[in-house]
Amino acid sequence: MYHITLIPGDGIGPEVAEATKAVIEASGAKIQWETVNAGLDVLETTGTLVPDGVFDSLEKTRIALKGPITTPIGSGFRSINVMLRKKYDLFSNTRPVKTIPGIDVPFQNVDLIIFRENTEDLYIGEERMLHDNAAEGIKRITKEGSFRIIKAAFNYANQNNKSKVTVVHKANIMKLTDGLFLQCAREVAKDYPHIQLQEVIVDNMCMQLVMNPSQFQVIVTTNLYGDILSDLCAGLVGGLGIVPGANIGENMAIFEAVHGSAPDIAGKNLANPIAMILTGAMMLNYLGESIKSRSIYQAVEATVIQGKFITKDLGGSASTKDMTNAIIENIQL
Ligand code: NAI
Ligand code: MG
Repeated sequence: MYHITLIPGDGIGPEVAEATKAVIEASGAKIQWETVNAGLDVLETTGTLVPDGVFDSLEKTRIALKGPITTPIGSGFRSINVMLRKKYDLFSNTRPVKTIPGIDVPFQNVDLIIFRENTEDLYIGEERMLHDNAAEGIKRITKEGSFRIIKAAFNYANQNNKSKVTVVHKANIMKLTDGLFLQCAREVAKDYPHIQLQEVIVDNMCMQLVMNPSQFQVIVTTNLYGDILSDLCAGLVGGLGIVPGANIGENMAIFEAVHGSAPDIAGKNLANPIAMILTGAMMLNYLGESIKSRSIYQAVEATVIQGKFITKDLGGSASTKDMTNAIIENIQL
């Protein structure tokens, strides 16, 4: 029995969290969920976006499945997601992007994974107004922060028989910050002589990805580029509705899909639950339950190939619940 914190989140979060719980249960994994909430609804009732109970639970279980949380735009609200990643030093944001056969997209053989540095860069929140008409933000890159995410990427490549790691940067312009990241990548690569280090500048990377994505295997990059490239890569395989993710640190792991709270479709039983369900499968794999994890992946693939119960974002007309039930039906134990 695993004890896991569940943060359903807001917007479509509760719908896809419910779906994921049901699928995980159907896989046979024994999980005792500790449900705590954070986000806009909680703000209305408690006056805070993240009540202390969330931190208490996370510090106890050290592992969470988390739905998306809306970040109000404007001053006064920092993103809870950014805050959690920073507070618990969840430095590695991994996002596997893989073609699911049967989805109508231009490429059928995308299989890459993004390692996004999760605690530094322009996301440290050090911004200030210079005067009424100008603002600036600090981009911070450290050697320690760079080494650990790059090592995580090479380690993954090594363990999964990948022959190439692509480091994405803009060191030609940001010579000190991105320059340092690139230099760290070159140093780490020396320890892995059998793995090729490919260096690609971020703007060129965008073009390469939309023209020939299957040339990439493992991508490692800084926080901002990683955020942007993740959504781009999601678009290559069918959109945000299907791409899972994880935020992993030394002492804690928070699993969450790439997508946000999707206010445009929230509460309508329209959200694609696959992203969150595959996020749950990634979590099972992390727990060592690789067979159950695999059975969830296969059930998702089978459901998409059957094509009868797929959500609107994938060209179908099924509801969140219909698709979830179909996935559960397809689980083979
Ligand atoms: P979003 O990912 O919520 O939505 C972008 C587009 O993708 C929308 O058209 C939405 O309907 C669609 N979409 C997303 N997930 C989907 C799913 N599972 N099924 C079908 N369609 C889906 O991004 P947006 O609109 O930029 O952000 C909305 C809010 O979410 C913002 O407040 C943002 O800060 C927050 N957010 C939270 C994240 C988190 O908690 N990890 C991550 C990204 C955004
Ligand atoms: Mg994002």
